[in-house]
Amino acid sequence: MSINHVTDVIVYVGVDDRTLALFENQYAVQPMGISYNSYLIFDEKIALLDTVDARATAEWLENVQEALGGKSPDYLIISHMEPDHAANLLRAAELYPQMQLVGNAKTFLMLKQFFGADAVPQERLLEVRDGDTLSLGAHTLHFLFAPMVHWPEVMVTYEETEKVLFSADAFGRFGALSVTGHAPWVPQARRYYVNIVGKYGAQVQALLKKVAPLPLEIICPLHGPVLRDDLQPYLQMYDTWSSYRPEDAEGILLAYASIHGNTAKAAQVLAEKLRAAGARVTECDLVTADVSYALASAFYCGKLILAAPSYDGFLFPPMEEFLTHLKTKQFQKRKVGLVENGSWAPVAGKLMKEAVSAMKDMTLCDTMVSIRSALDAASEAQMDKLVAEIMAD
Ligand code: FEO
Repeated sequence: MSINHVTDVIVYVGVDDRTLALFENQYAVQPMGISYNSYLIFDEKIALLDTVDARATAEWLENVQEALGGKSPDYLIISHMEPDHAANLLRAAELYPQMQLVGNAKTFLMLKQFFGADAVPQERLLEVRDGDTLSLGAHTLHFLFAPMVHWPEVMVTYEETEKVLFSADAFGRFGALSVTGHAPWVPQARRYYVNIVGKYGAQVQALLKKVAPLPLEIICPLHGPVLRDDLQPYLQMYDTWSSYRPEDAEGILLAYASIHGNTAKAAQVLAEKLRAAGARVTECDLVTADVSYALASAFYCGKLILAAPSYDGFLFPPMEEFLTHLKTKQFQKRKVGLVENGSWAPVAGKLMKEAVSAMKDMTLCDTMVSIRSALDAASEAQMDKLVAEIMAD
């Protein structure tokens, strides 16, 4: 059971999920798990902020009921309709028949799509517009729309007395609170941001501008820990990520995929040469790594080297998948080097070049390392040239 006071009147009633293997059925969340956050605000009126994933219904209801101590919420604020937060909307509406559901026009459109047009009577839906307020008594909620952070209906809620921002998916982090409560925030917050919200940098920038003038003391996201004290590092990190700026401009991600090991061996030689030249290198085997970690490393580093063989006249699929993810996240503003391998008609270099060239503000090194089956003197000479080129400003 997870009931914790965020402030005197705000109570955390979310749930840890320590057994989920893949978040969104694609991103590895073991062994850290994930939390589905939900909050109550107590005043003359009581507001419940969001529900949780269907995997966590029973524990969440226990938390809510214990925190309420026999009272009923007056409002259910719906920040986001994605099922990891909205799965229990109907359950909550049935349990508390006097409670109004607060959302915007897009929220209610999705509510009807997910649950049926007549699932909740119209008179129980309280539609708000961007900037609207809702008084709970001494506390006032301000609804700020944050479209595409991460879905179009998303809105964040600012409570002015407690100076708290309920930030929906923004500022979320992988990791169940009971497992990673004291772990550094950045690594799993970066991986969460890049993979969940990474495509929507412009929209995150818009949200940051919207909240910049607000006195802010606490951020309550829908995943991961409540953030408090000095919020500037979190806000600055979000500014960096959503601007597609690297955290380490000179850092190099060497992402490789190998069929029989020769491309991997070449990648090891390249990593040694880069390190000998003074580079900070992160190596990532795309065959064994969860792609979400590879993406997070790509956002972290200012430079990227891709190494992959051709396969059936195309690109070896693990590299293809990585490039597809980078494209969908609008990955941009990086310097890139390429290493291809092919035993008879290599096309990997051409295909990687096309994929990278389609991304915004990418600088491709002139030198491409072209390996025929295994690294030899000629391809190693190309490698030396690539090392010099990617390390030059
Ligand atoms: Fe945690 Fe976009 O839902």
